[in-house]
Amino acid sequence: MLQIAPSILSADFLRLGQDIEMVNRSEADWLHFDVMDGEFVPNISFGFPVMAAVSKLTTKPMDVHMMVVSPERWIGKVASLGARMMTVHQEACPHLHRTIQLIHEAGMLAGVALNPGTSISTLEEVIADVDLVLIMTVNPGFGGQKFIPSMIDKVRRTQQMIKAHNAHAIIEVDGGINPETGKQISEAGATVLVAGSNVFKSENPIETIATLRRL
Ligand code: DX5
Ligand code: ZN
Repeated sequence: MLQIAPSILSADFLRLGQDIEMVNRSEADWLHFDVMDGEFVPNISFGFPVMAAVSKLTTKPMDVHMMVVSPERWIGKVASLGARMMTVHQEACPHLHRTIQLIHEAGMLAGVALNPGTSISTLEEVIADVDLVLIMTVNPGFGGQKFIPSMIDKVRRTQQMIKAHNAHAIIEVDGGINPETGKQISEAGATVLVAGSNVFKSENPIETIATLRRL
């Protein structure tokens, strides 16, 4: 079965509590947080006060996707909010190996995200150390964008690299995921699907989450 991480970026912020309770009742595996700084990506989403409030209500492991420059500044803060997983962008981390170590020392699983234009070869030296590779299937910054089909082969090659290194990392994909794109990319090796608009804009989000899990 696939793992599904609904992204609250697409939730209704006026009824955020209700949307979190919906996710609690669903089969979702993780809750995905998109933190943006207006510098690494051309948008600003929400920050720690919102995450702190949600952390009190959610029953799902928190999967924090940091789209910010120098994410290592926030490792302690993210850990203190109870996050299970902290994912940083390779493009934002000149000292990626150290950042991964610090995330582990803070007691979290460590993920590394790659923008669509970044080669998987940039992960070669750290692949054995990471718990998760997040392949962006859109350019990060916004929900509701169109899935980039060439990322299917990128996931396939990432899976091969993980195998070749005898590494334990799992592959998460993020952006434009719906039942059709989710099926294609899971066949290529992704096991965790982030889904924002497809879940929160659907008529029956609980059913949508169940459908995605069983692709
Ligand atoms: C994009 C974010 C995604 C976004 C996905 O920058 O990282 O997590 O919320 O939204 P959808 O599923 O609508 O593409
Ligand atoms: Zn994300």
